[in-house]
Amino acid sequence: MLGATSTARPFYGSFAWAYDQLSERAVTAECGHIAATLSGRGVAPDASLLDAGCGTGRYAVELAQRGYRVTGLDASPELLDVARQRPGASAVTFVAADLVRPPAGPRYDAILCRGVLNDLLEEEDRLDAFWGFARALNPAGVLVFDVREWEATGRRKSREPVHEKTVETRRGTLTFRSDTRLDHATRQLRIAERHVLTTGPVTNLHPLRFRHAVLDARRGPAPPRPDRLRGRRLPWGLRPYAGRRLH
Ligand SMILES: C[S@@+](CC[C@H](N)C(=O)[O-])C[C@H]1O[C@@H](n2cnc3c(N)ncnc32)[C@H](O)[C@@H]1O
Repeated sequence: MLGATSTARPFYGSFAWAYDQLSERAVTAECGHIAATLSGRGVAPDASLLDAGCGTGRYAVELAQRGYRVTGLDASPELLDVARQRPGASAVTFVAADLVRPPAGPRYDAILCRGVLNDLLEEEDRLDAFWGFARALNPAGVLVFDVREWEATGRRKSREPVHEKTVETRRGTLTFRSDTRLDHATRQLRIAERHVLTTGPVTNLHPLRFRHAVLDARRGPAPPRPDRLRGRRLPWGLRPYAGRRLH
């Protein structure tokens, strides 16, 4: 097993094939912003770039089309299968690996980690991910990552705890529903997800409950557990969760 997240969540596993339809993003515009951010920090469009947690490869392929030499890494074999079938995917090298325990490999001029870090529930795993990024970056390399903000997420999820979306897919009508409760003590989202796929007269129900951490970009999460963090420091003197939102 690679990352626990990949196998536990149908969104990343048995329904990976529907991921892009259920989770739409303004990928082209966001990649424009990412490219501008990298250029502004001296990383040119022909640079090497690791998309850590690349999912279906939509950012990886878009960035490769802009000239970056892209490697896409993900823990989910199912999402990587989708990524490899994407038009333009041959320009990207895809790797199945856990970004918390990444294999030794080449260094990159830039790392993108979008929509991923909130999947890591344990403080220690987050630190290991950042240490992995530090080891995988060239000197003067640039890390671009995003995290949720607790206040904004809390307000939104209190107002709208249920998200539901129905899409017509090549396999039938798919309804995805997520129901989110806020756990203020741990700053985690407790999420129940459900996929319902109707193909002709047959309906298949896939329910799941899991937790999602909210790493606050401005104020940090609940205090870290000192027993887990003893002697650990973030690379480059980074403060935990000092990220910048991309969206
Ligand atoms: C919300 S998706 C975002 C995917 C992609 N970055 C995007 O924006 O379309 C989170 C991704 O992180 C991956 N992921 C979560 N934990 C991981 C880990 N420990 N190692 C590698 N990938 C991980 C999941 O498999 C999933 O593809």
